[in-house]
Amino acid sequence: MYKKIFAKVYDPFMSSIEKHIGPRRNDLLSDLKGRILDVGAGTGANFQYFHPEADVIAIEPSAPMMAYAKPKLANYPNIKMYNIGVNDLKVNDLVAENSLDYITSTLVLCTIPDPKKAIENYKRWLKPTGKLIVLEHIKSEGKIIGGVQEVFNPIWRGLADGCNLNRHTDQYFLEAGFVAEEHFYSGHTLRWIQGVYALK
Ligand SMILES: C[S@@+](CC[C@H](N)C(=O)[O-])C[C@H]1O[C@@H](n2cnc3c(N)ncnc32)[C@H](O)[C@@H]1O
Repeated sequence: MYKKIFAKVYDPFMSSIEKHIGPRRNDLLSDLKGRILDVGAGTGANFQYFHPEADVIAIEPSAPMMAYAKPKLANYPNIKMYNIGVNDLKVNDLVAENSLDYITSTLVLCTIPDPKKAIENYKRWLKPTGKLIVLEHIKSEGKIIGGVQEVFNPIWRGLADGCNLNRHTDQYFLEAGFVAEEHFYSGHTLRWIQGVYALK
């Protein structure tokens, strides 16, 4: 029931935020071609930005979120969607090792229960020349805001379907052996990392 409510309010809740991050999605995604994995595609927020020649596999474990994405798929025959989480073994049936040109990870590593394992999987699935495309919110660097995020996190996680405010996702990429080709940070209260990462 809770997941259904979350899925129902997700697009309306995000509509004002999308005014800011929609152009970023466009910058990151619209030129990508080749084989792409869109991780935790949710209600399909990225779909409109993918190039028609991109061959996209979208995965999403929440059936209610996927129910909102499915009607959008009718407009994008180049996108196939599967009801599956990134760390489920079944993803390996869809995605071979060293096979992807891009992985798109937008607003999702805050929520995935084991983000480091997901990033290890990203490494396995990307071609050596493949790129990880990232738009994620991360923990604020400010002591006060970071502290508030830490305290508020359990409540937020309960309200926002497992989303965490206090992850150092940018560090996880570097620890896993990715290098930032282009990246920039923005925001203070909610700090964002946007970028393109390559394998070392
Ligand atoms: C905040 S939404 C972001 C949706 C979309 N990527 C976007 O940019 O708007 C986070 C999504 O991550 C999904 N998620 C949670 N656990 C996951 C997992 N293990 N693997 C893949 N996606 C997951 C959630 O179901 C939810 O749809």
